[in-house]
Amino acid sequence: MTVISEQLTPILQFLQNRGFPSEPEAVVILGSGLGGFAESIHEPVSVPYSEIPGFPQTTVQGHSGKLVAGTVAGRQIITFSGRFHHYEGHSFSRTVLPVRLAHQLKAKKLILSNAAGAINTGFNVGDLMVIDDLVRPFHSLAAEPDQPYRYNLYPIADRVRSIAAGIGLEIQRGSYVYVKGPNYESKAEIRAFRVLGADVVGMSTAPELMEAARLNLPAAAISLVTNMAAGVQKGKLDHSEVEEAAESRKVDFTRLVTELIIKL
Ligand code: HPA
Repeated sequence: MTVISEQLTPILQFLQNRGFPSEPEAVVILGSGLGGFAESIHEPVSVPYSEIPGFPQTTVQGHSGKLVAGTVAGRQIITFSGRFHHYEGHSFSRTVLPVRLAHQLKAKKLILSNAAGAINTGFNVGDLMVIDDLVRPFHSLAAEPDQPYRYNLYPIADRVRSIAAGIGLEIQRGSYVYVKGPNYESKAEIRAFRVLGADVVGMSTAPELMEAARLNLPAAAISLVTNMAAGVQKGKLDHSEVEEAAESRKVDFTRLVTELIIKL
């Protein structure tokens, strides 16, 4: 833990000098194509990752790579627009840096989001889903594999769903299977994941949820279905679908995250 704190200290110092709040109401991590949420932040203070000492860079299309602080509905928040994926070459302990920063800043809660492919044939492109469980085939995703942790996402998923219903948004709930990527899955893998109980598939979020559980930081995660997973529908998968679907649900996604900041 000391090593981790040593890595975080210069970053925390830098953010403090830039006027970032400590004890924010929420830290929000935006998934692929979901960076538009940052436009709803009032009096934003924005810092590109490239200016932050010791901060990794993002290399993914649709991830802008900046930290934005400000207020939403009068609450102080910090947003990571752009995240770090294991497939970019980051270790799991690197990918969970935003979670560790949120913990050090004494954020009250963490709101994660991601783009995902739907395995559940009852889902549609554009659906929002709150994650209530993880499937982790072939991977130990723990950033601190030696430390035991437990996660239980069911209670928070219930609350997210009822908060969404309160603003007239019907969202799905289900389990997220983590894959390393960056290539999409084969049809056979998707069939196998369906048998394993997964509703959506994606390349992020699971390590972050596990680290939040280890640190006792309340965390909720929302997936946006940007495509049906391989073999569920005809046609080739490509990244442009991610941006299209995100654009189509930008307003609802922003309303939902705002409501979660206030009520969760
Ligand atoms: N598979 C994995 N990750 C994804 C997908 C997918 O189909 N869509 C968006 N992220």
